[in-house]
Order: sequence, then C-alpha cells, then structure tokens
Amino acid sequence: MRDTVVDGLAQVEEAVRDAVRSADPLADDAAGHLVRAGGKRTRPLLCLLAAQLGAPGPLVVDAAVVVELTHLATLYHDDVIDSATERRGVPSAQQVWGNTVAILTGDLLFARASVIGAGLGPEAVSIQARTFERLVLGEMRETVGPRRGEDPVAHYLQVLSDKTGSLIATSARFGGMFSGLPAEQVRVLVEYGEQVGVAFQLADDVLDLAAERAESGKTPGTDLREHVPTLPVLLLRRAVADSSAPAGSAELLADLDGDLGDDEALADVVARLRAHPVTADARTEARRWSARAVEALAPLPALPARDALAAVAEALADRTG
Ligand code: IPE
Ligand code: IPE
Ligand code: MG
Ligand code: MG
Repeated sequence: MRDTVVDGLAQVEEAVRDAVRSADPLADDAAGHLVRAGGKRTRPLLCLLAAQLGAPGPLVVDAAVVVELTHLATLYHDDVIDSATERRGVPSAQQVWGNTVAILTGDLLFARASVIGAGLGPEAVSIQARTFERLVLGEMRETVGPRRGEDPVAHYLQVLSDKTGSLIATSARFGGMFSGLPAEQVRVLVEYGEQVGVAFQLADDVLDLAAERAESGKTPGTDLREHVPTLPVLLLRRAVADSSAPAGSAELLADLDGDLGDDEALADVVARLRAHPVTADARTEARRWSARAVEALAPLPALPARDALAAVAEALADRTG
C-alpha cells in the first residue's frame, strides 16, 4: 500500500505542477509560486489513502489534484484576508505581487480545479462546489465573528468545520468514491474527514504560537497580530470573564487585544500565551477531535488503509509543522 500511495503522490505532484502553468508569464509565475514553495499535500494524501480501502480507479489521482488545487487557491485568498506575509517558507503572493494579483491567482487556480473536476463527473463537481461554498462561508463567518449572544467557542468550532473540515472531508470522500466503496463507507470517510479537519485546524492555531518559522513556514503570531480568533485566545477570554484564570491572565488578554504591530510586543505575547495553560488545553482539544476521527472509522473493515487513516489523524493533531 505504501508504494502505491507514494507513487500516487508523485503523480499528483506532477499533475498539480502542470495544472498551474500558464502561457502568460505573470500568471505562470504567480500560480507556480506556492506550488514551488512546497506544502504538505495533506489533502491528496488523505484522498489516496482512503482510496486504498477499495480498488483505486483511474480518476483517484485527478480527484487528489482537484482537492489540492482548491486548497491552494484558498491559500492565496486567505493570505490576503489575514495580511499574512509568509506562506510555505516564502513571501506570500500578495507580498510579492500585491492583493489584486494574489486574488486573481486564487481565482485562476479555482478555474483550473474546476476544469479537472469536470472530468470527474457531475456528482464530484457538485460536491466540490458545495465544499467551496462552505469554505467561503466559514472564512466569512470568521471575519464577522459571533452574533450577539452566540457562544464564541461554538462559533469558532463551526468556522473550523466549514473552512477546513469541509475540504478535508471531501478529500477522503473522493478517495472512497473513486475506488468504488459502497455509499455507507463513503459516509464514514466524510465523518472522519470532518473531525480530522477540525483537529488539523486546532493544531494549526497552536502552531501559530508554538512553532518556529522554519517548522511552519509561516510567521509566528500572525493570527494574534491580526486578531484572528484562535482557541487559546478564546479559552483565555472565557477564563478571564468567569474569573477562573490564573494570575496575569487579564493583563495578557489586554495585551493581546492591544496593538501588536511591533515585533517585540508580538514576540512577548506569543511567549506568554504559549506558556499559559490555555495552549495546552487547545492541544488537548485537537487530540480529542482526532480521537473522534479515529472512532468514526470503526465501521470500516480492518484493513491496513484504515490503520493508516487513524495514524494520520493522530499525527495531524500533534504535528509540529
Ligand atoms: C494551511 O493548510 C491552512 C489550513 C487549513 C490550516 P496546510 O497546513 O495543509 O498547508 P500546506 O498545504 O501544508 O502549506
Ligand atoms: C486557513 O485558515 C483556512 C483556509 C485556507 C480556508 P487560517 O488562516 O487559520 O490558516 P493559516 O494559518 O493561514 O494557514
Ligand atoms: Mg491565514
Ligand atoms: Mg485565515
């Protein structure tokens, strides 16, 4: 199984590189920028692994390419939304070419994903479109924040399901669909992917505090600087509000809510929040979601691919980059 998945990933890599090429030099350069920079290819991996539960058909690689291109497109947009300066260890696209080119490059990549997706048939096209819809709405709800009276942690977890769980679930689902799995097993993969996606994004929030630039390829504290809500900050806010937080928490929260434009001020709050118990609590929450993902796999036959999916779920919640 391992060799087949490794071989599949190599095919995905080549196809993704082909898919981002353009005759126009600017489009070619901008769309190739983040592919050249690297990335983990987590979504293709999940698609190819899920396919190992059945008999992988000829469209599995294309399906994996579609989910990676969709993801890639969202990264271009997300870095504009978050004013992120680094991605995959290189300057973000808008840092190099400005917002307009970065947004248009994201759109171009969606178009390329759609062209390849069309070859997967109408059901896959519809799933990909609905996935993208959820992802966009998740990003939008994150930007707007909770409604008055809405629990901020519940709102936040819904945002994670929509902006990240949606596409990770579709990655696993496509793997199942294009390897001839029965509908009930495909449903299991969707459930698994939804939970893995939340675990993955929770781990990402912790990495914003805990990872060095060389590990994550992103600038530590980017979420904090932009006041993008993350679980450690939400837990801190809740603990301060109900007076259950350790000494110094209210001061930390006030500093987090202040101006973090200065590099030293940012490094200081990153270090303090990293050492605060809420960061360990957020890690625990990520593991809880990955444990749920593993449980969701129980109805599947006990094949090596099922064990591999379980191992990936655990590794993604505990990742260091
Ligand atoms: C980054 O995704 C955006 C999130 C949903 C956390 P990845 O962590 O999968 O990014 P790459 O593809 O490896 O760069
Ligand atoms: C990424 O969300 C999710 C999408 C790309 C839709 P984040 O903004 O939390 O991820 P990073 O930290 O920039 O990778
Ligand atoms: Mg971001
Ligand atoms: Mg974001």
